[in-house]
Amino acid sequence: MLKKIKSTQLKKGMFVNLPGTWLSHSFVRNKFLIRTDKDISEIVDAKIPEVTIDTSKGFDLVEDLDTTSHGCKDISMPIKWEPEKSLSGEFKEAIKSKSMAPDKKAKVVYNHSLSIMKDLFDNPKAEKIQEVKETVYDIVDLILTDDETPRCLLDLTSHDFYTYTHSVNVGVLSIALAKVLFKNHPEHNMQELGAGFFLHDLGKVQIDPGIINKPGRLTDAEMKNMRTHPYQGYKMLKEANQLNEECKIIGMQHHERDDGTGYPRKLKGDEIHIYGRICCIADVYDALTAERSYKPSLAPFEALKIMKEEMLGHFHKDVFQKFVLLFN
Ligand SMILES: [Fe+2]
Ligand SMILES: [Fe+2]
Repeated sequence: MLKKIKSTQLKKGMFVNLPGTWLSHSFVRNKFLIRTDKDISEIVDAKIPEVTIDTSKGFDLVEDLDTTSHGCKDISMPIKWEPEKSLSGEFKEAIKSKSMAPDKKAKVVYNHSLSIMKDLFDNPKAEKIQEVKETVYDIVDLILTDDETPRCLLDLTSHDFYTYTHSVNVGVLSIALAKVLFKNHPEHNMQELGAGFFLHDLGKVQIDPGIINKPGRLTDAEMKNMRTHPYQGYKMLKEANQLNEECKIIGMQHHERDDGTGYPRKLKGDEIHIYGRICCIADVYDALTAERSYKPSLAPFEALKIMKEEMLGHFHKDVFQKFVLLFN
């Protein structure tokens, strides 16, 4: 049930629907679960006097709530996931370290990447995009200057299918592929490019989680909604003034296919930017190797075999060949 309340009546655990666009406040989504007191104070500080709450997705307003004995602190509510502070320190240390073993370094980098992407998808705000970018810049530098750690990173990719895990996997795979393709081409801004890969599915924060996490096939209407995520992500990055145009295009084009069977624009061949083509291959590979409730995960060689034998028309052949070599 939807209910209008004053912003000052908001409590943690309520599912809020803010009026206006996400640019009129610091939240990337207009509809989200209130997780912290800071969320409430930001809404109040943004001078939004009234909001709508959805009581089917979060707590209702209890007019006589006694905040001393039964207030927010005691209410059982969804656990807020906090990125561990030590993880970030460990990450910085690992990035700088010249003596840390590559497998250990890869583990620290991968775990930290998961944590910052999870934080962004759980609580998407414009400032978090900046945090992701800064971390990805370090990861790109590591992948470009070190051959062993990226190898270990590829071995670590997890096969669950949370959007944040998928984003990290696609980010790492795409940067590794771009490293091979653009070895002698300094004109590519690899750091910005890496951020574009990590953020390729950002638009999914605008899609109903019920659709994103639905086990099994989507209905036509759900599919239509899901297929808006490339544009939604592009729009969010544009509004947040993040990434150059070529890197924003990654999100917009990662579901286009070489033979024109993709979406949203059914682009063909050279109409698809090379960055979009790289991301498309990594994206399909990660989807095939991921485990879903309705399908087991495929082993890397099985996924590559299917991509070669059944989907080759979808990909730029030379780029795909280089991708396969990453696993040799
Ligand atoms: Fe996508
Ligand atoms: Fe994706």
